[in-house]
Parts: sequence; structure tokens; C-alpha cells
Amino acid sequence: MKQKIRVVCLAGIALLLVASISTSKQIPETGESEETTPPSEKHEPIRIGFSMDTLLEERWLKDRDLFRDAVEALGAEVEIVAANGDDALQISQAEALIQSGIDLLVIVPHNAEATAAIVHKAHLAGIQVIAYDRLVKNANLDLYVSFDNEQVGEMQAKAITDLVPNGNYVYIGGAITDNNAHLLKKGVFNVLRPYIDRGDITIVYDQWTEDWTPVNAQSNMEEALRTTNKQIDAVIAANDATAGGVIQALTAIGLAGQVPVAGQDADLAGVQRIVAGTQTMTVYKPIKMLTQQIAELAVAMAKGEKIPAEQKVNNGKIEVPSVLLTPIAVNKHNLDSTVIFDGFHSPDDVYKTTLQ
Ligand code: GAL
Repeated sequence: MKQKIRVVCLAGIALLLVASISTSKQIPETGESEETTPPSEKHEPIRIGFSMDTLLEERWLKDRDLFRDAVEALGAEVEIVAANGDDALQISQAEALIQSGIDLLVIVPHNAEATAAIVHKAHLAGIQVIAYDRLVKNANLDLYVSFDNEQVGEMQAKAITDLVPNGNYVYIGGAITDNNAHLLKKGVFNVLRPYIDRGDITIVYDQWTEDWTPVNAQSNMEEALRTTNKQIDAVIAANDATAGGVIQALTAIGLAGQVPVAGQDADLAGVQRIVAGTQTMTVYKPIKMLTQQIAELAVAMAKGEKIPAEQKVNNGKIEVPSVLLTPIAVNKHNLDSTVIFDGFHSPDDVYKTTLQ
């Protein structure tokens, strides 16, 4: 029952968000999408294709399930495929979806540039494309819906500089192929820049993490520890998966819990580490809000409705109509009132075990 009320509330919030977007601008007709089938020719139920980068990480399993629920609750159908980090596979899976006659394609790109080919192919078939969470670069994308990723980075750096205003910082970035990784880093350095310029903070290590994997983040962190002779005062990691790798490396030399570490996603392992004291903070992005928002917009667009979107994000080719949701900084003090209150994780799961 509680869960139902929560779903209804989130749906309401999403509707309010859509309603609050200015009605002054309409999604532009792109050259490639002019052939979109008129709504009168659409067959019910609407079929949405969902091309995911990966299902190998906790957050994307949540995205998959919540998106499917949200689309089905609107009386539409969704076909879901995941490429697990393989660019060629993501393209061929998306082609298969396009050929199967979907009404609209939603894509979580593994590679921001490579997936432009998918947008082009979809448009040739008269199918509009929404970028889910991650931007597709250099393409006539129809809509981009995400959280404000620059703000995520700013929240991380603000939380860590409040604790450690001076010292040696390590930045463990995300995957260089993911536009979000660049936005997160930009946000972090927006906050760190004045500290660096004053000489208060020194960046002693700064590296991307191939495919966002904990194992790659761990070896980056081991390298950071080696090259600085362990003289590290704080770490900002682009998400909880990479923060997990960082904390593994710190644990191995007995420093876990002594060096503040920031992450992102409010993964279960991440919030458990916050409880255990080995991770300082995470950034919670209410995924249900994202899935609800995208499901509603996808179904409306597939029916031929024009979607007003005030925000624009430049993807190197066009100003993409965009919706950017607000993330929430989480530490041990507000864990209960955010992640747990929302039912994102149960108190049992969060508090039952201490991982590190
Ligand atoms: C980003 C996403 C993060 C994180 C990461 C690794 O694009 O915004 O929440 O999950 O990918 O998958």
C-alpha cells in the first residue's frame, strides 16, 4: 500500500515537472525525423524500444525494472535490450529494435559518440530517440532526460572540501566515453578550482576509469597511493562503483575510513559503506522519478504529441531539448530521510551489515 502511494506521489511529481516546463518552446523538427509516422497511423499499444548500455551494475537493474513498470502502467509495451558495454552490439541491438517496428527508441548510450549512428538510423525509419540519463553527442537527438550531472559533481566536491579544505586530492573519474563522466568532473572542478588556485588543494592524481568498473578504479587508486607514497587526504570518485574500488585499495593498506571518499548513485554497497564509515557521502538520484518522467514523455511523443522542453543542452550538433532533474547529496545524517524514506533501499538492507 505504502509502495503504491509512493508510486502515485512520484508520478504526480513527474507530471508537475512536465507541467512546470515552459510551453514556449516545442521540440524542433529535425531534418531526419520529418518522416515520423503520423499519430493516426500508429497502432495501439505503443511499443517503446529501450537500448541499455549495461545491466552489469546495480543502478541499471533498477532503471530497467522501474522503466518497464512505468511504461506498462501507461498501457504501452517496452522491448528491452542491453549490450553490456559492447558498442557494436548496442548498435546492432538498436537496429533490430528499429526493424521490429517500435514507435520510439529510448537509449542509454555506452559510447556518447558511437551511438549517434543509432539516432540517424532511427530517424531514417521515422522513429524519434530519447537519450536516457546519458547524452548522445553529435546527433539530431529528439530529447535528453537526466539528472543535473554537473550539480552531482559540485555536491561531491562541496561535501569533501567542507571536511578537507586543505591537502592532497585524488580524482577518480568515470568512463571517458560517457558524457556524464565529463559533466561530473566539470562540476567537481567548479568547486575545487578556487582551492587549487589558492594552493590549498593539490590534485595529486586524476584519471578516468575504463567502463566505470570497480576493478579499474581500484588499480587507479593503487597507482595513486604508490606514486604519492600514500600522501592522500581525500578522494572524489565519480560513482559508488568506482568508490568501492578506491575503498578496496584503502582497506588493503589499513586506510579505509581515514581518507574521506565521495561517490554517487546511492548503491546499496555505497550506503552500507557510509554506515560503516568507509565512504563519506554519495549522491542519490531518485531513479523512479527519471523512469516515470521518461516513460510519460516517450509515450506522449510516440503518440505524436509535441513535448515542451525549456532546457537545452548542446551535444556538439544541436541544442537538444532537455529535462534535468535535481540530485540529492546524502551522508550518514540524512540517509534515513532520503534513500530509506523513499524506499530506494530498505533499512534492513542498509543497516544489517557493515561491509568494510
Ligand atoms: C553514469 C550514470 C551514473 C553511473 C555511471 C556508471 O552515466 O549517470 O549514475 O551509473 O554511469 O554506470
